[in-house]
Amino acid sequence: MSGGTKRVATVEARDEVAPDTVLITLGLPDPAPTPPPGSHLDVTVPLPGGSDTRSYSLVDLGHDDGLLRMAVRRQQDSRGGSVWMHSLKPGDELEVMGPFDEFPLNPGAAPSVLLAAGIGITPVLGLARALRARGSDYRIIYAGRSRDRMAFTTELESAHPGLVTLAESAHGGRVSPAEAVAGVPRNGVLYVCGPMGLLKDVRQAWQQDGRPPADLRFETFGTSGGHPARPYQVTVPRHGVTVQVPVGTSMLDALQSAGVEIMYDCLRGECGLCRVRILGTDGTVDHRDVFLSSRQRAEGRQMCACVSRIAGPGVTIDC
Ligand code: FES
Repeated sequence: MSGGTKRVATVEARDEVAPDTVLITLGLPDPAPTPPPGSHLDVTVPLPGGSDTRSYSLVDLGHDDGLLRMAVRRQQDSRGGSVWMHSLKPGDELEVMGPFDEFPLNPGAAPSVLLAAGIGITPVLGLARALRARGSDYRIIYAGRSRDRMAFTTELESAHPGLVTLAESAHGGRVSPAEAVAGVPRNGVLYVCGPMGLLKDVRQAWQQDGRPPADLRFETFGTSGGHPARPYQVTVPRHGVTVQVPVGTSMLDALQSAGVEIMYDCLRGECGLCRVRILGTDGTVDHRDVFLSSRQRAEGRQMCACVSRIAGPGVTIDC
């Protein structure tokens, strides 16, 4: 499903589902059929310095009422996006795009493990529901601080009895990426949604275990980087181009608008196809991808133009 045009949605309800987490129910002027599991919505949020886009997985709680639901956790280090989302109340309007179906289930009947951490549980609800409807072999690992602070534990456990493992860090529970990978049958698929650090660790463990890349599925949005988004300048000497990259626009988009061709695919910081070579910067590279390794980041010679930004005046690149 593609919803590539902006629409105005209305907040129909706002419910606290865990400390710091609200479930926001939205109505659209032209309600669509129930989106596929794993779909998300892009929301325009006002931030200091300009508006930006935040992506939120849709929560599938089994309703079939044409409404869309998103769970939003107030982030401790928020630049204002989650705070603004928490301020919404019934009757408020917001600009959205989507739903987008970019975290789908693999076709086929391979055994599946769904690994979620924190608010990463949101797409897992729908994926698990669909796996159950298929009669698939699946199980769910859900990591968080403690049950009372984790959203949707009751719904999950009642819908999937005996198939949910909670890893509560406050009680010594933790998810080891290597153990999570080892727990997936050799022909199985691992779906991961959680913080960037977890995604990178699991991806590394998956590679080290020699698993097929296509059988690791992960949802990467939710990071807003390590620095607030600010406008910066990008210069490409090879093309004789210097352009401004405003808040809410990627380097990739800004360069393409200036006529610079860059290959890309996922637009989510996963495939690495949009990598550009950094010739110099008077700022800090705010890596927002999951493609580059820690070593590559430390070297500071490349960045993914689709998601990563510069915190500082500008950067000179080659592409
Ligand atoms: S297009 Fe895939 S990482 Fe940028």
